[in-house]
Amino acid sequence: MSSAPRVPDSPDPGRPPVTLPRLQEMKEAGTPIVMVTAYDFPSARAAEAAEVDVVLVGDSAAMTVLGYDTTVPVGMDEMLMLARAVRRGLRTPLLVGDLPFGSYEASDEAAIATAQRFVKEAGCDAVKLEGGGSSVDRARAIARAGIPVMGHVGLTPQTATALGGYRAQGRTAQRAADVARDAMALQDAGCFSIVLEAIPAAVAELMMGRLEIPVIGIGAGPATDGQVLVFHDLLGIRDGHGARFVKRYRSIGDEMAAGVREYAQDVRSGRYPTADHTYSIDPEELERFRARMTEHHTGAYDFMS
Ligand code: KIV
Repeated sequence: MSSAPRVPDSPDPGRPPVTLPRLQEMKEAGTPIVMVTAYDFPSARAAEAAEVDVVLVGDSAAMTVLGYDTTVPVGMDEMLMLARAVRRGLRTPLLVGDLPFGSYEASDEAAIATAQRFVKEAGCDAVKLEGGGSSVDRARAIARAGIPVMGHVGLTPQTATALGGYRAQGRTAQRAADVARDAMALQDAGCFSIVLEAIPAAVAELMMGRLEIPVIGIGAGPATDGQVLVFHDLLGIRDGHGARFVKRYRSIGDEMAAGVREYAQDVRSGRYPTADHTYSIDPEELERFRARMTEHHTGAYDFMS
């Protein structure tokens, strides 16, 4: 038993839901767009309470909450379960579902069907896919099917092996031009926004002049229209240092381990539970119960009736 979840709300009850036109307005006004990942009800509630603009149910869930080594193994059913929990915890941010590896690449039909599942079955407002090349066609198909789609170029973890590992991209003129070409192709295909991951700040800054849609950076420097970080990275819920671009705002993982350790010590030493944590019973009821238990002991088995 636990306490029932509270209906979520942002600190400003009048805060309107974030829409695609609102994100475009923010870009044009130079108002930074705040995006964060979330994978369950509590992380969604934290994002709502912080009044972030966009929440991504990232396939980084594979590593942060499902314990896989990479983002590659996570499946659509797993992503949907997480996205539904996030939906229940959010009211105002735009909710984006990340199309997992293998769920959209094969054909436009596959991409549309997967995107529709995020919208119909989890209540997502939009989806995100990774890469240029054939992903541009998939993005165009999804957008034409009426589902807002976000692109993602630079370091694209689903294809990290082909990129030479988890490393910064666009560090030569040719590679930077490749990233810029993919970003512009995704914009032309109808993406409402694009994520630039792990590219030099100067490359991102030069690209900004050519991108009319909101650009969200992660390890792409300060020139983008907004920033995204992985929830578990910024709160220190994961082991290790993480990428260079991660700024750790808390060490919640250490706190969690310390709390569970204290609980274990309390149980083992008898310090928990105390009278404060137990329920009482009327003494007369207790006496009746004691009598029944005694009857039970002497052979009468009806003590539960
Ligand atoms: O899966 C994810 O968390 C992402 C963000 C890093 C943009 O794609």
